[in-house]
Amino acid sequence: MSRTVRAYAIDATAIAAEKESAGNVEEMDITKVIHLDKLDLRDVGPDDVRFKVLAVSAEHNINHAALADTVNIADVRGGKIYPGNSALGEVVETGGNVKNVAVGDIVITHCNGEPDDYGFPLRIWAYDQPESIGWYSEEAVVGSWQLIKAPLDCGLNLWEMAALPLRAPTAYHLWRRAIGIYRVKVPVERRASINVLGFGGGVSELFLQLAKAEGHNAFFCSGSPERRAALEAQGIVGIDQKQFNRFASKDDVKAFRKHVSQITNGEDMHAVCDMLRGPVFDAGLAVAARMGVNVSAGWQLSQVVTYNSTLMSVKQVTIDHTHYETPLGCVAATELYGRVFKPTVHKEIYAFEDLPRCFAEMHDNTQTGIPIIRVADDMPESVKGLIP
Ligand SMILES: NC(=O)c1ccc[n+]([C@@H]2O[C@H](COP(=O)([O-])OP(=O)(O)OC[C@H]3O[C@@H](n4cnc5c(N)ncnc54)[C@H](OP(=O)(O)O)[C@@H]3O)[C@@H](O)[C@H]2O)c1
Repeated sequence: MSRTVRAYAIDATAIAAEKESAGNVEEMDITKVIHLDKLDLRDVGPDDVRFKVLAVSAEHNINHAALADTVNIADVRGGKIYPGNSALGEVVETGGNVKNVAVGDIVITHCNGEPDDYGFPLRIWAYDQPESIGWYSEEAVVGSWQLIKAPLDCGLNLWEMAALPLRAPTAYHLWRRAIGIYRVKVPVERRASINVLGFGGGVSELFLQLAKAEGHNAFFCSGSPERRAALEAQGIVGIDQKQFNRFASKDDVKAFRKHVSQITNGEDMHAVCDMLRGPVFDAGLAVAARMGVNVSAGWQLSQVVTYNSTLMSVKQVTIDHTHYETPLGCVAATELYGRVFKPTVHKEIYAFEDLPRCFAEMHDNTQTGIPIIRVADDMPESVKGLIP
């Protein structure tokens, strides 16, 4: 029997109305676009699982969807999407063929919507995967292949675990690409530890935790003092991005280049995690060491990049574009919860009803860590001890 739950939706008519009233994308109010709706869950099929959503993390692509500033995904998907591609929940019903999880298990989701022949996503769940329904809802029905058991004994609290389902696999994939590409060019016996730079944001901080755990020198260039302090406590060197005016001019990039040269004894950065593009891309390339690698799975500030191909060839710098992990890679990334991944979480845990405000604050860049929304008031016994 189908069930009706409360779930957030983004629809194309709300986007158009808000764009019209705001006049331009910069002035749009996200809280007027993301709205609480009703959703009829599909019946649980033999390979499906129904789970109660306990907590979710906010992801930046929802802002792209609500503002339609990259692609108007709600419009492309027929006028409406139910977003949410990172969740932690409790299994409440399973289909007859399901073996990997059981009723009562605490699970996390991965958002690889449709693996290609190599396992990498052709599309992302609850974004561009047709018919996919996201997890900013009280309950959800998914294929069991989309769930991984949450490592409840990993040492992280519930909110920290909820911060990771989307960002940790992204960081894991970026890191194995960055170090793998670097190692094609420079073997370990020539340089064991390298300099690794990440620009602000949750994915970058996890990328740097991977680098640090493997013995490399890690640097976090962020405008947020709280986030820098959290990473400095883990031995990751902070660089204040605002000291360089977020690279607004060529002189700012020059000053940043000089600073990086000083703190790396003239060696610069062998691996850079960008995620933002725009002015950050130019700054990242400016500090690339010979044989360096620049990786990104994001385009928050710009979708288009330009660079001097000759210079990059002469320096043997590789610019690599990535997207998201394979389902197996997501499982591997989950093994590193708590051992390597220790995310910073924003100081407010948002109530379900406050989810639109959470996204507005993400847009305003006022959060001090990864934002978490508590969806369930009533938590299962198995996680009660994990709530700080
Ligand atoms: N392909 C994928 O699988 C995937 C997965 C996750 C994220 N992403 C994309 O990657 C990007 C980053 O995501 P995230 O989750 O790591 O970030 P996040 O935790 O949401 O943080 C975004 C960061 O952007 C920085 N920022 C905001 N405005 C900026 C500006 N004008 N100049 C420079 N930095 C600015 C802020 O850093 P500071 O203020 O600290 O400097 C902020 O911490 C997003 O575009 C997201 O959509 C892609």
